[in-house]
Amino acid sequence: MELYVAPSILSADFARLAEAAQAVGGPTGADWLHVDVMDYHFVPNLTLGLPVVKSIKASTDIPLDCHLMIEDPGRWAPTYAEAGAHNVTFHAEATDDPAAVGRDLRKAGAKAGLAIKPGTPLEPYLEILKNFDTLLVMTVEPGFGGQEFMAEVLPKVTEARKRVETGHLDLRIEVDGGINADTIHAAAEAGADTFVAGSAVYNAADPAAAVAALRAAAVV
Ligand code: DX5
Ligand code: ZN
Repeated sequence: MELYVAPSILSADFARLAEAAQAVGGPTGADWLHVDVMDYHFVPNLTLGLPVVKSIKASTDIPLDCHLMIEDPGRWAPTYAEAGAHNVTFHAEATDDPAAVGRDLRKAGAKAGLAIKPGTPLEPYLEILKNFDTLLVMTVEPGFGGQEFMAEVLPKVTEARKRVETGHLDLRIEVDGGINADTIHAAAEAGADTFVAGSAVYNAADPAAAVAALRAAAVV
């Protein structure tokens, strides 16, 4: 599967989000733009919601990869699909019926993503992966950018990759948290094909060059 790089605007200037999207655009730039939605409840941080997602959508052609770190995704996730997000990912820990939310997202016209925190096992979700287009394996505790990559999570990525192969699933395996030019290769080797990077892109002097460097470093 083609490798995707998804810069996270969490590390960009929130007063200049259109410029942040533009800075990673173009044919060799970002495949997805990762937008972290946090609600002060599921995680101890607050970022942005639907009105801002709609404004970002109107300002760029890069497909939006919305990562919802919120409670009650069954109620809210489909509204992000309706707002034009390409991919909407919510947390398995936040709902009793993730498969139903995945199906609702597809009905609402988006790709569906399931996210798991570092301490959440993959095994209980293996049978429902067919309802999803993306599995997001968190490689830090969700909530903040700039944290250190947790390599101990990578066996879950490998487990997911095996499942994709044995089950012939059409599923992207995304990693998020602490991804930089030093850590991305290990994540790719473990089986990830989609890489979120916030601080490694937006704290760089040249965000577009940082995206290119990540892509080059990911090749297994
Ligand atoms: C953290 C977010 C990440 C964050 C990653 O909860 O989900 O998307 O932006 O930031 P870095 O790449 O700096 O770890
Ligand atoms: Zn994220």
